[in-house]
Amino acid sequence: MDKTWWKHSVGYQIYPRSFYDSNGDGVGDLKGIITKLDYIKDLGVNLIWIGPFYKSPMDDNGYDVSDFYDVDPLFGTLDDAKNLIAEAHQRGIKIILDLVLNHTSDEHPWFMESRSSLKNPKRDFYIWQDGKKDAHGKLHPPTNWGSFFEGSAWNLDPFTNQYYMKIFSDKMPDLNWASPALREEMFKMASWWLDQGVDGFRVDAIAHLARDLTFTDSTMPLNQYHVAPDWGKFSNRDELYDYLKEFNEKVLSHYDCMSVGEVGGGASVDAGVKYAGYDANIFNMVFNFDTCWQNNIFSNDELKDEDIKINVLNMKLTFDKWIQGMKGKGWMPHYWLNHDHPRVMSQYGDPIHHHKASGSMLGTILLTLPGTPFIYNGEEIGMTNVDYTSIDDFTDIWVKNYAKQAIKHMSKDQILSHLRRTSRNNARTPMQWDDSAYAGFSTHLPHQKMVSNYPLINVKRQLTEEDSILNAYKTLIRLRLQSHYSETLIFGDFELIHPKDPNVFAYMRSDEQMKLMIVCNFSKEVQEFVLPLAYKHVVYSNSKNAHTHKTLHLQPYEALILEAK
Ligand code: NOJ
Repeated sequence: MDKTWWKHSVGYQIYPRSFYDSNGDGVGDLKGIITKLDYIKDLGVNLIWIGPFYKSPMDDNGYDVSDFYDVDPLFGTLDDAKNLIAEAHQRGIKIILDLVLNHTSDEHPWFMESRSSLKNPKRDFYIWQDGKKDAHGKLHPPTNWGSFFEGSAWNLDPFTNQYYMKIFSDKMPDLNWASPALREEMFKMASWWLDQGVDGFRVDAIAHLARDLTFTDSTMPLNQYHVAPDWGKFSNRDELYDYLKEFNEKVLSHYDCMSVGEVGGGASVDAGVKYAGYDANIFNMVFNFDTCWQNNIFSNDELKDEDIKINVLNMKLTFDKWIQGMKGKGWMPHYWLNHDHPRVMSQYGDPIHHHKASGSMLGTILLTLPGTPFIYNGEEIGMTNVDYTSIDDFTDIWVKNYAKQAIKHMSKDQILSHLRRTSRNNARTPMQWDDSAYAGFSTHLPHQKMVSNYPLINVKRQLTEEDSILNAYKTLIRLRLQSHYSETLIFGDFELIHPKDPNVFAYMRSDEQMKLMIVCNFSKEVQEFVLPLAYKHVVYSNSKNAHTHKTLHLQPYEALILEAK
């Protein structure tokens, strides 16, 4: 097996606006990231994925790009970006950028040209269609397709009276990848960043570059916005693979870089192999979302906190399905969350009664799975979901669109508790560095309200506590990357142990050299668990619980790595 650098990596995702503010304007920036590179180095990771910092009107916090070749002044300058790349490299840390290929901002010069007339040479950089008139002469979108950010996938543009396609916000028109000239522009831009020294990309929203160009209505039932949430009309479609192969051939294959595509929900393992199989010649890996929502938080608007249930069984089977399905065929990235998800501590851990144990247990799983693990900033200290008291505290465009509609059939309290459990704002609060005002993130009121637990949950405190989640992550990262166990943890086989146990997530990682048993109690109760093999010694434990026998009595959220005899 080839052992390229990104297989020997642990990634760390930085959401730039919330990481560290160096100039006191309440928004994180690139110089702020440079300031914290020593922290990242000390954590032990060797790869950073930075969220978009291109010039942007910030309708969707930078995923709406108006200039791919420049840095938004909110985050700094192009020189800051170059310094960041150089400073990271000096510390042995690689950097990948978030590459947004599916859409631009409506303030991008291409779109301004494109919308200006039907005959503009850039017209076909975007997807334009006539609307449909009903019997009363009223204009409707070309199809009934829904968008991910609620409402229609189309927006009427007054300049030419045609609709443009936009599967995210109104200010994010979709690019038309069927246009060869557009593709060339995007390839040129990606190569330019690689020439600046970045080590690759996390490629945003990659599943959607090809659409059903017959533009026919979906037959799916319409939702409360009177649109069909039929993602198949613009997800994982066959033509897409040709565009991506061309991207690989013309761009990625010319550099020693890594690429991880975001395929989101609904992609099958077979699609995973098509995107990131060793022979696919597209990406090195793809993120799916399947293991991120293994509880019932979307089941019912009136769900109470005490009724939230994690389906550990399903979660294990989902990890197993992907790992076995990709085995020998392609490499996998793993993560508990990114900036689009709730905090994993609140999703799957117990922030109130078992903060340390559940945080380090989650870290144990993440850092002992095969593939490349990605940590999301703040996960390493067990940051939690927000405790906001008003719907207005939520700033995300998707959340705002959702709340506008939800208020028609839900009470404000219901919306608030739904958002506190599910919204993207949960992962986007300022990083909790210490217990001073604004958690040491900034000297100014931050762009988004802090979580009020920062005096207790912060980096400074956890650096000094021997049994902190932060120290657990450090230990686990070193075990993975720089120990006698590294080869087995990175490349060894994966096999679930007692797959039907509904509370304990346990598996074997093995190769010719050794067998490691990872045993994690994913519950608040003590669990009895019988090991399949006797063990020589404990490689890692997140508790003081001593075991002497093959029958374990696992404490709540206890995590163990054991080397079998
Ligand atoms: C996926 C990104 O992770 C998300 O934050 C963004 O809103 C959409 N793609 C659109 O770019």
